[in-house]
Amino acid sequence: MTSPHNDVQPVAEPGTGYVRKGDGVPRVDGRAKVTGQARYAAEHLADGMIFGVVVNSTIAKGRIATLQLDAARAVPGVVEILSHLNRPRMRKLDLFYKDMTAPAGSPFKPFHSDGILYSGQPIALVLADSFEAARYAASLVRVQYVQEEHETHLLSHLERSHKPSRLKAGFSPPPDETGDAQAAFDAAPMQVSAEYYAGVEHHNPMEMHASTVLWGEDGHLTVYDKSQSSQNSRWMVSHVFGIPKHRLTVKNPFVGGAFGSGLRPQYNLILAVMAALHLKRSVRVVLTRQQMFTFGHRPETWQRVQLAARADGTLAAVLHEAIAETARIEDYVEVVVNWSGQLYKCDNVKLGYRLVALDHYSPIDMRAPGAAHGIHALEVAMDELSYAVGMDPLALRLHNYSERDEAQDLPYSTKELRACYEQGAARFGWSQRPMAPRSMREGHELIGWGMATGQWDAMQMFARAHAELHADGRLVVGSAATDIGTGTYTVMAQIAADAMGLQLEDVVFRLGDSTLPVAPIEGGSSHVATVGSAVEGVCEKLQKKLFALARRLDDLPFAKARFADVQFREGSMVLQGGPGGSCAISLQQLLARAGETRVETKYLMLPNILKQKKYVRATHSAVFCEVRVDEDFGTVRVTRVVSAVAAGRIMNPQLARSQIMGGVVWGISQALHEETHADHRLGRFMNHSLAEYHVAVQADVHDIDVLFVEEDDRIVSRLGAKGVGEIGMVGVAAAVTNAIYHATGRRIRSTPMTPDKVM
Ligand code: MOS
Repeated sequence: MTSPHNDVQPVAEPGTGYVRKGDGVPRVDGRAKVTGQARYAAEHLADGMIFGVVVNSTIAKGRIATLQLDAARAVPGVVEILSHLNRPRMRKLDLFYKDMTAPAGSPFKPFHSDGILYSGQPIALVLADSFEAARYAASLVRVQYVQEEHETHLLSHLERSHKPSRLKAGFSPPPDETGDAQAAFDAAPMQVSAEYYAGVEHHNPMEMHASTVLWGEDGHLTVYDKSQSSQNSRWMVSHVFGIPKHRLTVKNPFVGGAFGSGLRPQYNLILAVMAALHLKRSVRVVLTRQQMFTFGHRPETWQRVQLAARADGTLAAVLHEAIAETARIEDYVEVVVNWSGQLYKCDNVKLGYRLVALDHYSPIDMRAPGAAHGIHALEVAMDELSYAVGMDPLALRLHNYSERDEAQDLPYSTKELRACYEQGAARFGWSQRPMAPRSMREGHELIGWGMATGQWDAMQMFARAHAELHADGRLVVGSAATDIGTGTYTVMAQIAADAMGLQLEDVVFRLGDSTLPVAPIEGGSSHVATVGSAVEGVCEKLQKKLFALARRLDDLPFAKARFADVQFREGSMVLQGGPGGSCAISLQQLLARAGETRVETKYLMLPNILKQKKYVRATHSAVFCEVRVDEDFGTVRVTRVVSAVAAGRIMNPQLARSQIMGGVVWGISQALHEETHADHRLGRFMNHSLAEYHVAVQADVHDIDVLFVEEDDRIVSRLGAKGVGEIGMVGVAAAVTNAIYHATGRRIRSTPMTPDKVM
């Protein structure tokens, strides 16, 4: 029954050979993932393991009057039921529950009191010696509540919106108004003004959230947690339970998708650790697919966009306001409207962002948080404006192209959006597009072409990395990074292999372990610029250390050479035409002659903030798409997408393309399928299963063409890379909306665009 907890270490297949940054290389973790060797958080077992099943509240607000547990306790195999009544000691202060991505406010603390803050709140954990016994017993728990009135409907409460708290690090509130936007709007000859609405969306990664706590002989806890940062989970558990760092290791070597849902540790982690400490046993808590709808979601958001232009299409005013939901306990914030002051050149811009507190759990980041809504509304409004002024939608965008950020009065570090527009349009055949809606048809299908712009931040955090070159020529590099399915193992090994001139199969990149050197949370598409730069930095230090060893070898000309004269390639340190002549020595020979079994270096990568803050740093995209709309049924197929992306130097085009494709598919999903509906009488999300919460599937995916335009950004990172991921999603749903308008003449201002709206 005991599984070995030595996790599979992904390494490239033998024969992969020498690779450079920029080469397309397949995933080094691919084989482990498709053969089941990669173990996920819920796939670790230990002798005597206890299984926990969570009971969730069925009311949205009030308190628990009684918990009837006798029937559940009587089930054979049940060992304990934890709730607010008997929970072991946990710290009380909000501070301890603040994970590194927590919004401003008071974080939810599982089992802290009898209070109910939202429907689906965890209220009891049934623990048994089998999952089946725990699940059955959990179904027997009966709860009596004292109910209070709840409010869960955003649109009914827009008038009580509040300005968000600014305490959240990294959040940029909308900039102040420039010019006089309302007066400029009123005076302009061409105006569009409309409201947009997006419903709640929930995360549905393949892997459910789970935490397995392995109770060590010496009381050491090893926790496998589904997370975008092992160190964030470790940090929170340490603080909540007062466990010192050296007694707690969190691991997440394999993550089956997360894209925001794993940024914050979820209640399964707190409950699993609580149970393990209480029972002094190994404990696993896995959420069900339905329970995946009980923590965090993309917030329901209402927006109004007003655009005005002169007769020639020059933007005269941009007014964009958004009101999104948050929880009563926290101000979850995202950047929704700020993009509208950046994407186009305009002198009169007014932006607003407010929140309404509802009786739901706090929203959570979901791929391209904020931009997925804000740029959507802006880009649909731009399409509406293009028809108002009678100008091609792409021509209108080019006419108003912004060369610098007007609101902050800063240049872009690099911005190849114009190349995205041009190359994307050429690839798509945009010049063949007739302007008038309903002008293309094939049989019973109306055909439409639409386009939109995308933008996302190009961020760089700080990170540490560690490197060890062994006598056998193997290089091991490590950082507590995460691979949520995005290719971190591969790209980091590739950057190291390129730096050291080693074959990819000789490089091991270790991640997903809280004991490794500090790395940031894998989020915001920043891992390549951050961890990748740390990896290249630690390799450069290693090169210098090896060079210092070589200089001590009197019989070789390295002694008289400078570091700048040597190269690391094909397993060797190579000196060409130095003062003492040319020479090469393999790294293995070098270590042997120096009498070293290994050479180690450590590196701390700190972003050059003083330089970076003089620029706006962003990735860009131009998305073109074709839809076919069944005129009788209102069903939409997205038959062709071209996404042209500018994201700095692309480290691995094969994996980057997959990232963008994934974003495009998610954008199609946002456009056509995804919405969680609440029954507001119950204050409860109802379609909490994949049968009723629809996501794009293979049948929704047709021709997706990704192209990367040339860009090299040494301000964002030493690699020239900005990072891909979120940028693949931004603008996709807007392009689909605009294509549906072009096909049908019907303008839809809410997502998802289900047949009832399209008909
Ligand atoms: Mo990012 S919201 O973690 O995809």
